[in-house]
Amino acid sequence: MQDIMQDKNEKTYCLINYGCQMNESDTEHYAGQLEELGYKPVSDYHGADVILVNTCCVRESAEKKIAGKIGELKAEKKRNPECVICVAGCMAQKDGDKLQKKHPQVDLLLGTAYVNDFKQLLLDYLADRKGIAYTDLTIHQSEFEGHRVRQSSFAAWIPIMYGCNNFCTYCIVPYVRGRERSRSMENIVEEIEAAVKEGYKEFTLLGQNVNSYGKEFGEKDAFANLLRRVNDIPGVERIHYMTSHPRDMSEEVIKAVAECEHVCENFHVPFQSGSSEILRRMNRGYTKEKYLDLIKLIRQYVPDAAITTDIIVGFPGETEEDFAETMDVVAKVGFTSAFTFIYSKRSGTPAAKMDNQVPLPVKKERLNRLMALQNENSLREHEKLIGKTVEVLAEGPSKQDDVWTGRSRTGVLVLWPVEGKEYAVGQKVNVVIDTAQTWLVKGKALD
Ligand code: SAH
Ligand code: SF4
Ligand code: F3S
Repeated sequence: MQDIMQDKNEKTYCLINYGCQMNESDTEHYAGQLEELGYKPVSDYHGADVILVNTCCVRESAEKKIAGKIGELKAEKKRNPECVICVAGCMAQKDGDKLQKKHPQVDLLLGTAYVNDFKQLLLDYLADRKGIAYTDLTIHQSEFEGHRVRQSSFAAWIPIMYGCNNFCTYCIVPYVRGRERSRSMENIVEEIEAAVKEGYKEFTLLGQNVNSYGKEFGEKDAFANLLRRVNDIPGVERIHYMTSHPRDMSEEVIKAVAECEHVCENFHVPFQSGSSEILRRMNRGYTKEKYLDLIKLIRQYVPDAAITTDIIVGFPGETEEDFAETMDVVAKVGFTSAFTFIYSKRSGTPAAKMDNQVPLPVKKERLNRLMALQNENSLREHEKLIGKTVEVLAEGPSKQDDVWTGRSRTGVLVLWPVEGKEYAVGQKVNVVIDTAQTWLVKGKALD
């Protein structure tokens, strides 16, 4: 509709985003800068003046899908040679001008350190229309302080740190996001206060390893202090954060979650593998026992915590016994949900050169067993909510008629019938749960 009504002289942009929440956050900054230049958003890239694809390279499957999308844009460039095609993000960082050579329709290639410079680089490009790749990873200014156009009207991404120093042996992220650096607490608080004024209620603090927040300031317990500081901002209703590294998750952070009214009681703590030997070769810095101790500590402080995780199956050399340890952790912890991945070889990482790469059919079979077990757990965890009243922030109507959806404080998807009532996006609704499924729960709203 919006597209049809577009004024013919108006310049338009289309953003296509892939990857993690950090990418979604970066995309909001690209949108902000494009709008400062007078561009208006469209959801279909055909005919847009600027098309920006923000990319991810964490697994090969993601890369293939994105390469397909970039390939598609060749026809668009032919139809509309004046349009500017930008490829940004982690794949752009990893492959640099190789990617541009393979896809000559790409005009501007922006690595991950250039989010803030996008506006100027676009203007520079428009001045001489010479295709260029910016892939230096050195950060040359404080990041992401400009205007941004958020996708949600009540939930806001707040990056608190960038990059990663962990070098887990399977992972490409440290190579494409550079070294860890934290935003100052004042800068973070300012952004949150401004968002509260615009009506935002729910804040997700983002970083590859939020528990190392503030390490470079030399401040002890900087992340726990940040949680407490954000909790005190008037108008902030819910605080989430991701991702936590089990090695760096401190008792101080767990205590802060337990004590801060607005910090939600969900813990996303990826364990990746249950085998201590695999964990050692992943360079994760903890053992199965240490991880289970951490879960115990979380449950001790926050008995109702929803715990979620990420798991990789088929890391090089993973035996059936190693995999059994992973299944054991899943059986013992009772995760509310889990993101499960088949190990994907990323060239340039140490694991890519390891012997005994696990054959794909074995990886797939293990993934199926893992997912079946986790699905039972998700259902069981959701069943625990039956009869309870959960606080939901309304997100909008579902595909079904007369049913709204939203998320509980712990991130569970909740559906309830409208029954003639009016709801607004971002409204707090109390729902009594009566039905549990693997992926969601249903109930009735209280007045
Ligand atoms: N910084 C976060 C998340 C990074 S990427 C963390 O450390 O938890 C998100 C998830 O992708 C990881 O937790 C891991 O489970 C998965 N992942 C990363 N590299 C992968 C690879 N090469 N193959 C399969 N899964 C991978
Ligand atoms: Fe990758 Fe490990 Fe860093 Fe997470 S902590 S981004 S898995 S290297
Ligand atoms: Fe992907 Fe980059 Fe995020 S590789 S997962 S978009 S940090």
